[in-house]
Amino acid sequence: MSTRVLTGITTSGTPHLGNYAGAIRPSIQASTQPDVDAFFFLADYHSLVKCDDPARVASSRIEIAATWLAAGLDPERVTFYRQSDIPEIPELCWMLTCVTGKGLMNRAHAYKAAVDQNTEHNIEPDDGITMGLFSYPVLMTADILMFNAQRVPVGRDQIQHIEMARDIAQRFNYLYGQGNDLFVLPEVVIDDNVATLPGLDGRKMSKSYDNTIPLFHGGAKALNNAISRIVTDSRLPGEPKNADESRLYSLYRAFAEPEDSTAFRDDLLQGMGWGDAKQKLFELINKELEPMREQYHALIARPDTIEDILQAGADKARRYSRPFIEQLREAVGLRQFTQSQTATKTDAESDKGGRARPRFVSFREADGRFRFRLFDQHDSELFLSEPFDDPKHAGYVMRTLQQGTHDDWFVQENDMAALMFEGRVIGRFSAAQVQAVRSCLDQMTPTADS
Ligand code: TRP
Repeated sequence: MSTRVLTGITTSGTPHLGNYAGAIRPSIQASTQPDVDAFFFLADYHSLVKCDDPARVASSRIEIAATWLAAGLDPERVTFYRQSDIPEIPELCWMLTCVTGKGLMNRAHAYKAAVDQNTEHNIEPDDGITMGLFSYPVLMTADILMFNAQRVPVGRDQIQHIEMARDIAQRFNYLYGQGNDLFVLPEVVIDDNVATLPGLDGRKMSKSYDNTIPLFHGGAKALNNAISRIVTDSRLPGEPKNADESRLYSLYRAFAEPEDSTAFRDDLLQGMGWGDAKQKLFELINKELEPMREQYHALIARPDTIEDILQAGADKARRYSRPFIEQLREAVGLRQFTQSQTATKTDAESDKGGRARPRFVSFREADGRFRFRLFDQHDSELFLSEPFDDPKHAGYVMRTLQQGTHDDWFVQENDMAALMFEGRVIGRFSAAQVQAVRSCLDQMTPTADS
């Protein structure tokens, strides 16, 4: 049984070496495990809380997306998307906002720190504090609960937010679950083996301390420059160095095999000069980053490739979030009126001049392959098919599906289901949707549709 692991990255800066070693590299590593179903996303709505400069938000989004891809994220394996491409997230955020106690949010560290700072400076406690900052943890909760993530790897500063997510999920389950939990309670994952890199001045590497080492920007030269600025003590070449207190050694360890780290440490104890140590450190890090840097620049030069990848990721994510939000709307009482009570017709209905029916819409992708979508009578997408090389094959599958379905065409694993036909997967959707897909297919009659 696979575990759904989800994490988000706020898009308000350019990734540095500390982000790479502390978050990007370990997350990508985890996503390659066979039992992990990884959801990684760009928390771009969150960036609006911190940043009101549109140009910065825009450049950070693309830089962060390119960084993850260059660092080896496999978009076939990972569901990789932008938060702002999933409209179900802000919708869920509102539902959750309505069950979240204001008192719970009053206790959030980030908000409290802002209030404390104001109080210290003798200004109005809420001065400059937006509702975005105040309810930030609710949006983060929506990110997590939308996909029923079981595990959420984050930094220590985010532990409280995951606890809040659990509180909010519990309350929603209690109010609306009718005995069946709608939301899984997420668990926080803190990996103690992950390196927290020291910055140039020895404090934790962080944009807010202005002590970072760039990851890709400025190329090898900027990397070398930054490393040469790492503060050391004034011991001369030949004098033994205290390796365990040296930042160079901490950084070296985060990139080297254990034997090489030991050798580096021994060299320092035996008097290797700081200059030589920095050169070795640069070579080590550069060896790991060089191929990624090339990838990064190639990707940045082709923004439409990144766009396509993220759009496909959003499609994949929405196969889960769309039916799930329907279920949640239903649970809170935001229900469709029955057909007979509906006064106005939807566009799809009036287009056909009659009652709308479920339909397939087929299309050709940029890569020349063919897919189709199944829409229900309300125009909601139920699934997107896997690609077909031959349009005739896709047509044949659609026609056959329209003739009615068989039980053994539906397979289910955990909360996902697939429609199988002639030994291959035709489409995937949430298990909650099996009934809806089946009933749509059963309502279709074999007429040609777009
Ligand atoms: N708040 C997180 C941070 O600043 C980013 C984030 C947003 C996130 N939504 C999330 C992390 C959901 C994990 C899960 O680091």
